[in-house]
Amino acid sequence: MALSLDNINLLSLLLLFLILPSTSQTYARPRSVVLPIIKDSKTLQYLAQLNQRTPLVPLKLTVDLGGQFLWVDCAGYVSSTYAPSHCNSFQCTLANSNNCIKECTYSSPMPGCYNNTCGLLPDNTVIGGVGSTGQLGQDVLSIPSAYTGLVYSVPKFLFICAKGYLLDSLASGVTGMAGLGRTNISLPSQFSAYFRFDRKFAVCLSPSTVSNGAIVFGNGVPGGIDTSKSLLYTPLLINPVSTATSYFGNESSSDYFIGVQSVKVNGKLIRFDSKLLSIDNQDFGGTKISTVYPYMVMATSIYNAVLEAFANEMPHIPRVKAVPPFGLCYNSSSINNTSHAGPDVPHIDLVFQRKSVYWRIYGANSMVKVSNDVMCLGIVNIGSKPRTSIVLGGHFIEDILLQFDIPHARLGFSNSLLLQNKSCSDINAKSMS
Ligand SMILES: *[C@@H]1O[C@H](CO)[C@@H](O)[C@H](O)[C@H]1NC(C)=O
Ligand SMILES: *[C@@H]1O[C@H](CO)[C@@H](O)[C@H](O)[C@H]1NC(C)=O
Ligand SMILES: *[C@@H]1O[C@H](CO)[C@@H](O)[C@H](O)[C@H]1NC(C)=O
Ligand SMILES: *[C@@H]1O[C@H](CO)[C@@H](O)[C@H](O)[C@H]1NC(C)=O
Ligand SMILES: *[C@@H]1O[C@H](CO)[C@@H](O)[C@H](O)[C@H]1NC(C)=O
Ligand SMILES: *[C@@H]1O[C@H](CO)[C@@H](O)[C@H](O)[C@H]1NC(C)=O
Ligand SMILES: *[C@@H]1O[C@H](CO)[C@@H](O)[C@H](O)[C@H]1NC(C)=O
Repeated sequence: MALSLDNINLLSLLLLFLILPSTSQTYARPRSVVLPIIKDSKTLQYLAQLNQRTPLVPLKLTVDLGGQFLWVDCAGYVSSTYAPSHCNSFQCTLANSNNCIKECTYSSPMPGCYNNTCGLLPDNTVIGGVGSTGQLGQDVLSIPSAYTGLVYSVPKFLFICAKGYLLDSLASGVTGMAGLGRTNISLPSQFSAYFRFDRKFAVCLSPSTVSNGAIVFGNGVPGGIDTSKSLLYTPLLINPVSTATSYFGNESSSDYFIGVQSVKVNGKLIRFDSKLLSIDNQDFGGTKISTVYPYMVMATSIYNAVLEAFANEMPHIPRVKAVPPFGLCYNSSSINNTSHAGPDVPHIDLVFQRKSVYWRIYGANSMVKVSNDVMCLGIVNIGSKPRTSIVLGGHFIEDILLQFDIPHARLGFSNSLLLQNKSCSDINAKSMS
C-alpha cells in the first residue's frame, strides 16, 4: 500500500505526539526560544535569568556574546540530575577539552570535583580574569516561562563549574556567565542541537534597566519588531586564534568578528592605518561585537582620527572638559535632539567589504550621557596595538536587531529601531514571526 501525503502527515503527527514529553507546560520542538535580557544599572552588564538543577534553582548570569560556554560558581551546588563529563567522553570532545583531571583532592565527589573528569578554564571576560580549571558537567537548564508562558528545558546542558572568586566585578546576584560564542557548547549551539533548529540567534538589547530586551534562539525574529525584511548582511569572520584570556590551546576565537573596511564620519572617509582593520598574521586586529564592553573601544590611531573628524563636524558647538574614559564631551544643552535617533550629532558609518553595506551609528548609540548637562562620544582608547582594533560594545548595539546566522556565516543587522519609533523592549514573544 502506498502512503498518501495525508497518511504521512498523520504518521508524523502521531510520532510528534509520542516524542512530546508528558509535562504539559513543556513544549518540545519550538521554532525559537526567547530569553529575556535586562541591563544592570550599576555595572551596565546584560543579565539573563535561567533555572538550573533538580530541584530548579534560579541563576542570574552575565551575558557574554563571544563567551565560550556557560560557567557557574558551583559553591553549594545541590542537584539530583548533575552528571560530570568523564575524560574522553563525547561531551569532552564536543567541548574541545582534552584536559583530564584524574583525581580531585576533596574527600567526597561534588559538582566541580569528580575524579576522571575533563576540565576547561572559565573566563571572567568583564575583568579579563581566568579562574582555575573548572570541570565540565551537565544538568537540567530551563528558560523560565515569565515571557511566553512556556517552559523550555534542556535536560543535559553542558557547563563549567567555576570557583567563587571569578565572580569579581559581575553584577550583584550574578553567579556566572552565559557564553553565546562560536563553540559547540555555547548556549546557541546546545539549544539548536537539542531543539533541532538552525544555529541562529537574534540579539536585541534594551538600554532600559527596567524593561527587557531579548535573545531569540532559533529561526524566529522577535514579534512586534518587523525588521526581518530590512536586515542588512555582512559575513561573520573567524579569527583563527582564540581571543579568550584562558587561551593556550589551538582553537579559533569564539568571538564574532565582522569585516569593517573603513570608517566614515558624516559621510567623510577617515584616514588611519587601515591594516588595523584586518586580522593580521599574528591574529591581531579586526572588529568584533561584544556585550561585556559597555561602549565602543578603538585602537589609538583609529580613535584619534575618529574623534578629530567628529569634533570637526561640530565646529560651532563648544566642547566641555572630557570625562574619562571618554575624550570628547559636550554640554548637552548645546546639542539638539533628533525626532527619533537621539542627540543630533554626526553619524558614524562602519563600511563593510561590500561598500553599499554599512552600519550607521546615530546619536542614540554613540553619545553617552555622563551627567545632567554633559554628554560624551562613547568611544574609549584601548591602546596602540590591542588584540582587537575595534570592539562594538553594549551601548552601540542597543535598540538594534542583530541576527547571528552561523550556517550562512553572516550577521544580519537592522538600522536603529528608534528610527521606526520602536525599541528592543517592544519585543513581543507571543507573536514571533
Ligand atoms: C563542532 O562544530 C563544528 C561546526 O561549527 C563541527 O564542524 C564540528 O564537527 C563540531 N565538533 C563536534 C565534536 O561535534
Ligand atoms: C578520587 O580518587 C581517589 C583515589 O582513588 C580517592 O581517594 C578520592 O576519594 C576520589 N575523589 C573523589 C572526589 O571521588
Ligand atoms: C593544532 O592544530 C593543528 C591542526 O589543526 C594540529 O596539527 C596540531 O597538532 C594542534 N596542536 C595542538 C597543540 O593541539
Ligand atoms: C551647560 O550649559 C548650561 C546653559 O548654558 C550652563 O548653565 C551649564 O553650566 C553648562 N554646563 C557645563 C558643564 O558646562
Ligand atoms: C533633548 O531631549 C532630552 C531628553 O529627551 C532633554 O532632556 C533635553 O533637554 C533635550 N535637549 C534639547 C536641546 O532640547
Ligand atoms: C538647533 O535647532 C535650532 C532650531 O531648529 C537651530 O536654530 C539651531 O541651529 C540648532 N542647533 C544646532 C547646534 O544644530
Ligand atoms: C511613537 O510610539 C509611541 C508609542 O509607542 C506613540 O505614543 C507615539 O505617538 C509614536 N510617535 C510617532 C512619531 O510615531
